[in-house]
Amino acid sequence: MSRKKKLIVANWKMNPRSAAEARALFKKTKQTGSRLERVETVICPPFPYLGVFAHSGTTRVSLGSQDVFWTNAGRATGEVSPEQLADLGVSFVIVGHSERRALGETDDIVAKKLKAVLGEGLAPILCVGEKTRDEEAGYFEVLKNQIRASLSGVRRPDLRGLVIAYEPLFAIGKSARDAMRPRDIVETEIFIRKVLSDLFGAEAGHEPRVLYGGSAEPENTTAILSDGGVDGLLVGHASLDAEGFGEMLKSANALNL
Ligand code: PGA
Repeated sequence: MSRKKKLIVANWKMNPRSAAEARALFKKTKQTGSRLERVETVICPPFPYLGVFAHSGTTRVSLGSQDVFWTNAGRATGEVSPEQLADLGVSFVIVGHSERRALGETDDIVAKKLKAVLGEGLAPILCVGEKTRDEEAGYFEVLKNQIRASLSGVRRPDLRGLVIAYEPLFAIGKSARDAMRPRDIVETEIFIRKVLSDLFGAEAGHEPRVLYGGSAEPENTTAILSDGGVDGLLVGHASLDAEGFGEMLKSANALNL
């Protein structure tokens, strides 16, 4: 199941190298995104630049964060609270990205962050994905456990505001031909919705938006969005090239679904 308006999220990671470059990239991306009726664009810059872009989101182009802390108060050197993000006009928060999980973030921490983000009225983009694919299809079990643990304590009504980004680790940071094939993406998307239905009830599986991430580039955007069954993309390296990313946004806008 995919919705008409696509959600395309730019995850800049630890880029670009200066605020001046960030401003230029933001400006161009916002310009393109603002013109497109059938795409919702989200830009997730590194923390220091969130302040630079505070409250500069629009109805079509919004601001997202790459991470968050799990409470609004307490001694937490180096962390950023959901409340601080909301105050800057951030609407989306990436939670549990594989690069954060690789640095030690557990499912338990992810679940706490998710609840804190929902509590602040922000939309979490929960990242899940297996490291490898084995022939016995054990990766389905891995995904199921990750989803269940990450959503622990989340209530049924919260699902509506939730976004799940499916990012198979082996496809991240490569090039278009290394991305997962649309038919494998659609199979996994159906599986993710089935896990949600088993957890929260039949209808629940349809509620969150499901994105794909992992070497989404201008070359494969149309194929993934039209045949991959997903509601949008989480884009890493390709979001750093304003022109190429603009092409991706336009391709998403042009889909006749
Ligand atoms: P990529 O990254 O598009 O560079 O593969 C995606 C991600 O890590 O979110």
